[in-house]
Amino acid sequence: MAFIHLDIRCLYTLLICTAFGSVPSNAEIKVNPPENFEIVDPGYLGYLSLQWQPPLFLDNFKGCTIEYELKYRNIDSEHWKTVITKNLHYKDGFDLNKGVEAKIHTLLPAQCTNGSEVRSSWSETAYWTSPEGNLETKIQDMDCVYYNWQNLLCSWKSGMGVHFDTNYQLFYWYEGLGRTTQCADYIKINGKNMGCKFPYLESSDYKDFYICVNGSSESHPIRPNYFIFQLQNIVKPLPPEYLSLTVKNSEEINLKWSIPKGPIPAKCFIYEIEFTEDDSTWVTTTVENEIQVTRTSNESQKLCFLVRSKVNMYCSDDGIWSEWSDEQCWKGDIWKEILIFFLIPFAFVSLFVLVITCLLLYKQRALLKTIFHTKKEVFSHQETFC
Ligand SMILES: *[C@@H]1O[C@H](CO)[C@@H](O)[C@H](O)[C@H]1NC(C)=O
Ligand SMILES: *[C@@H]1O[C@H](CO)[C@@H](O)[C@H](O)[C@H]1NC(C)=O
Ligand SMILES: *[C@@H]1O[C@H](CO)[C@@H](O)[C@H](O)[C@H]1NC(C)=O
Repeated sequence: MAFIHLDIRCLYTLLICTAFGSVPSNAEIKVNPPENFEIVDPGYLGYLSLQWQPPLFLDNFKGCTIEYELKYRNIDSEHWKTVITKNLHYKDGFDLNKGVEAKIHTLLPAQCTNGSEVRSSWSETAYWTSPEGNLETKIQDMDCVYYNWQNLLCSWKSGMGVHFDTNYQLFYWYEGLGRTTQCADYIKINGKNMGCKFPYLESSDYKDFYICVNGSSESHPIRPNYFIFQLQNIVKPLPPEYLSLTVKNSEEINLKWSIPKGPIPAKCFIYEIEFTEDDSTWVTTTVENEIQVTRTSNESQKLCFLVRSKVNMYCSDDGIWSEWSDEQCWKGDIWKEILIFFLIPFAFVSLFVLVITCLLLYKQRALLKTIFHTKKEVFSHQETFC
């Protein structure tokens, strides 16, 4: 095979040499860059389409599959993303707070040039949304939490120095949602939109979620603020419930809790446990919903723990810890406890009551005696009188 291939190549070289009277070299093979390279914004708040047309004068390379090497990035970002494609378009998400720049060249694979790969020069383009309004008028401190992988809630603060008549609007989009949609349920503070409660978002995780919060004011324009994130990375689960602490023998303790209710699969949780033995506390994590711990001293009287949950690294890149659960405790010797906190005080009180009663009784007896004595005297007087 190699021989035949070599033969054909020699034959062609010979043919070309005779035709042009010179030795061909790959340096002479040239290809043009793609035509009409542009970045198109379909209004999806950051999901842009990079598109182009084939280069001119491709006739020399008939039967060759032409490829394109595309590089793009947000202006200011350190790295270019690189894509090699045979298509005439490519789509990806960008941060529209910044500009976008891209460049592309044509690639002629080695089999088209009888030598090494040939590239065209770069064709470049850039895109940015018209920056209306002052940078300070943007909303600040955007905070979005996807509660229990179910309810998305975002809140923000006003831009700095904006006029009191300013109000904000939130728009969102993700692949699968027909069109860019405005928030339908705003959280209002003093009549201003300061947050949004999203409706149920069907198949919206593991893909880019785009948000734009812009605004309007009679007195000056408001700079829009753009956000991109993936919903599975901002999940805040419910805290675990039904904690149980079982002391199996003098050393082993079993801690157990229930998996938080809701749509999050059991395998997606990581738990953090805070365990307290008398006065010392330590923290550990596990992906199971129970754990065995060793008691450091079989004399310890108070064992307590609490748990919180988060989505683990197998299901997301990031997450938010839930609130802590209620604390569950085990108290050493229950009889000792009852003795100290109930029986002893009870005994004291009883004794006290007894002593008081005796004293009272004694006093009463003394009193009775005196009365009786006086009566007797009176009686004896009467007798004498009769
Ligand atoms: C390369 O080879 C192809 C056929 O394999 C031939 O058509 C073409 O003219 C050659 N080009 C050069 C520059 O040698
Ligand atoms: C805010 O953004 C949405 C979506 O891009 C757009 O339709 C709307 O006109 C913008 N509003 C203002 C006041 O710029
Ligand atoms: C504590 O453990 C040690 C050794 O395991 C044992 O000898 C001792 O009796 C235990 N004390 C109590 C109060 O259980």
